[in-house]
Amino acid sequence: MVPVDDIPILVFSSTLLLIMTISSAVDTMNTTESIRDSEVMVSADGSFKLGFFSPGSSQNRYLGIWYNKISGRTVVWVANREIPLTVSSGVLRVTHRGVLVLLNHNGNIIWSTNSSRSVRNPVAQLLDSGNLIVKDEGDGSMENLLWQSFDYPCDTLLPGMKLGRNTMTGLDRYLSSWKTPDDPSRGVFTYGLKAAGYPEKVLRANSLQMYRSGPWNGIRFSGCPQMQPNPVYTYGFVFTEKEMYYSYQLLDRSILSRVILTQNGNIQRFTWSSSAHSWVFYLTAQVDDCNRYALCGVYGSCHINDSPMCGCLRGFIPKVPKDWQMMNWLGGCERRTPLNCSTDGFRKYSGVKLPETANSWFSKSMNLEECKNMCTKNCSCIAYTNLDIREGGSGCLLWFSDLIDIRRLNENGQDIYIRMAASELGIIERSSNKNSTEQDQELQMFDLGAMAIATENFSVTNKLGEGGFGPVYKGILKDGQEIAVKRLSRNSRQGPEEFKNEVKHIAKLQHRNLVKLLGCCIQEDERMLIYEFMPNRSLDSLIFGKTRSTQLDWPNRYHIIHGIARGLLYLHQDSRLRIIHRDLKASNILLDNDMNPKISDFGLARSFGENETEAITSRVVGTYCLQWLHIPRVCD
Ligand SMILES: *[C@@H]1O[C@H](CO)[C@@H](O)[C@H](O)[C@H]1NC(C)=O
Ligand SMILES: *[C@@H]1O[C@H](CO)[C@@H](O)[C@H](O)[C@H]1NC(C)=O
Ligand SMILES: *[C@@H]1O[C@H](CO)[C@@H](O)[C@H](O)[C@H]1NC(C)=O
Ligand SMILES: *[C@@H]1O[C@H](CO)[C@@H](O)[C@H](O)[C@H]1NC(C)=O
Ligand SMILES: *[C@@H]1O[C@H](CO)[C@@H](O)[C@H](O)[C@H]1NC(C)=O
Ligand SMILES: *[C@@H]1O[C@H](CO)[C@@H](O)[C@H](O)[C@H]1NC(C)=O
Ligand SMILES: *[C@@H]1O[C@H](CO)[C@@H](O)[C@H](O)[C@H]1NC(C)=O
Ligand SMILES: *[C@@H]1O[C@H](CO)[C@@H](O)[C@H](O)[C@H]1NC(C)=O
Repeated sequence: MVPVDDIPILVFSSTLLLIMTISSAVDTMNTTESIRDSEVMVSADGSFKLGFFSPGSSQNRYLGIWYNKISGRTVVWVANREIPLTVSSGVLRVTHRGVLVLLNHNGNIIWSTNSSRSVRNPVAQLLDSGNLIVKDEGDGSMENLLWQSFDYPCDTLLPGMKLGRNTMTGLDRYLSSWKTPDDPSRGVFTYGLKAAGYPEKVLRANSLQMYRSGPWNGIRFSGCPQMQPNPVYTYGFVFTEKEMYYSYQLLDRSILSRVILTQNGNIQRFTWSSSAHSWVFYLTAQVDDCNRYALCGVYGSCHINDSPMCGCLRGFIPKVPKDWQMMNWLGGCERRTPLNCSTDGFRKYSGVKLPETANSWFSKSMNLEECKNMCTKNCSCIAYTNLDIREGGSGCLLWFSDLIDIRRLNENGQDIYIRMAASELGIIERSSNKNSTEQDQELQMFDLGAMAIATENFSVTNKLGEGGFGPVYKGILKDGQEIAVKRLSRNSRQGPEEFKNEVKHIAKLQHRNLVKLLGCCIQEDERMLIYEFMPNRSLDSLIFGKTRSTQLDWPNRYHIIHGIARGLLYLHQDSRLRIIHRDLKASNILLDNDMNPKISDFGLARSFGENETEAITSRVVGTYCLQWLHIPRVCD
């Protein structure tokens, strides 16, 4: 009834001596041998032991494997977990066909392995890794592996075990929790790889999904920001046509470390502390509420530092606002603006755990541009991103259903590009009129003489203000169009061609919250930029002017702030140039007839500012933006 290693030495010293002589020598068993309830197998270096045991306060007998060199009995594998022996008379044998069988006191098979190949000389062996194998000693090679316990995990993932699938054979290796400490039969929790779409590790309670790791991104699982090189173990994810699995290896074999799926559904790693003579918890994954699968519903995003934790992704609103007010977020969010496939664009969301990949498609060879094109073309494609984030990113992952289980991460989050209606992105729809398209591409050049006439020889009365790079004048073209002419200071070192190129780039930046650049004038030493004219002047005159400030009620203020934020976002994030403004202030925000704000002076810092490197430029961005608006959220 008592397990072998619990037998008091003094009482049964002779028996123990006998067993020890056998066990210290025996890590293998051939067809003429057997392991009885009182006998054990020990791996060659003594790391693991196989034998019969009774868990907790149970009287049932189970065949299992446990650590041999440490105190206590930490069971890592159980053979007959569902069918216990009721008396201590079980016998383990290996048959001539290479099948392991566990017999009860009547000689009936209560558990067996599944190999059915014809073999010559089958042998069972307990390896130092804790793996019990059956092999054909015929020629001794690993090719003749007939069966291994590592293919049938219980609640423990040992170093070298594979958590995942063999696509060729259909073998699926996953952890399943014990029912209770007294009962190793399958509890409600399982932890393994989900094969649909792009694989992820998934924790389930019965069939209900509780948690997902996020897809592997070449470095870690997307939802596991804490996964990083450490002194104890290395880890990896293998994904080929034949198999997909996660596994880890110890860096120092003298350290004992294991991952278990507990009876309450926690995934925990423990390492053995020889000084404390006990297993200690090794922190690998932060357990927090945002890990709860789909807590915030579709298009919701969970952020653990926020209160409430759930929010909708930008451009989405709660589907059932009442529920959200009651902190029931499961209903998720919906688009503020419906999609229209022919004109949709994509918005980049950064720092996230990627959404569930069950309904996804991937390519390892495509790059991000090809990925975007593919997603753009297929109207049911909702989002795309790189499959692998190493070395600037490679591969393509596409989503084809509502996005769910997204969270914002404080570190090591990823980018995802989500399909959005064009108006959400603030992109001015390009006119299909062929003439104006041509104009978009070719920069309009203005004549210096015409500019002098339009601005009355750059007279003081026409001067609108003095910007960062020179004075600005109001002008009227021959056809009556009002313009604003920025006459750049003469210390630009750029030649005419370089200047023209820069201006072409800036002219391509088009957004309803940016002042439109009409063209430029390059003649002699003069460099001028010609903009559309904003009759309602700049925001500072509105804020600080005595009469006009009364017009600034809160809805108007909000409208203006919102517009500025959109314009900035476009400059910083969505435009191809990724302009950092660097000089955002009230005098640089102009207002059109309808009080729509338009950012001016953008692109100049990058192109015409002196001695600026991109690194310095980008460091300044937050400061200007946040200091001025005092509402950090709209600038992120
Ligand atoms: C099984 O092993 C025992 C002990 O090593 C040996 O005496 C016996 O010949 C082996 N039997 C077979 C069939 O290999
Ligand atoms: C043997 O195969 C059956 C059916 O495929 C499976 O239910 C059982 O778990 C397998 N047993 C072992 C020990 O692998
Ligand atoms: C989608 O956009 C096209 C082109 O702009 C337009 O003709 C069509 O009416 C739009 N459809 C909907 C449903 O808005
Ligand atoms: C879009 O992608 C889905 C999923 O891969 C595919 O079933 C469908 O045929 C594609 N549609 C088009 C028009 O390519
Ligand atoms: C394009 O411009 C040409 C000449 O400027 C004009 O004849 C033609 O009608 C214009 N086409 C359109 C579609 O406006
Ligand atoms: C602008 O200057 C030119 C030459 O300096 C002069 O002939 C012209 O009258 C001036 N125009 C105006 C509107 O002042
Ligand atoms: C903005 O300009 C329009 C047209 O010039 C004018 O009617 C309106 O009063 C102006 N608004 C402000 C706030 O100055
Ligand atoms: C730009 O850098 C050059 C050389 O480093 C220096 O001579 C010049 O004064 C700088 N200009 C400004 C405006 O800082």
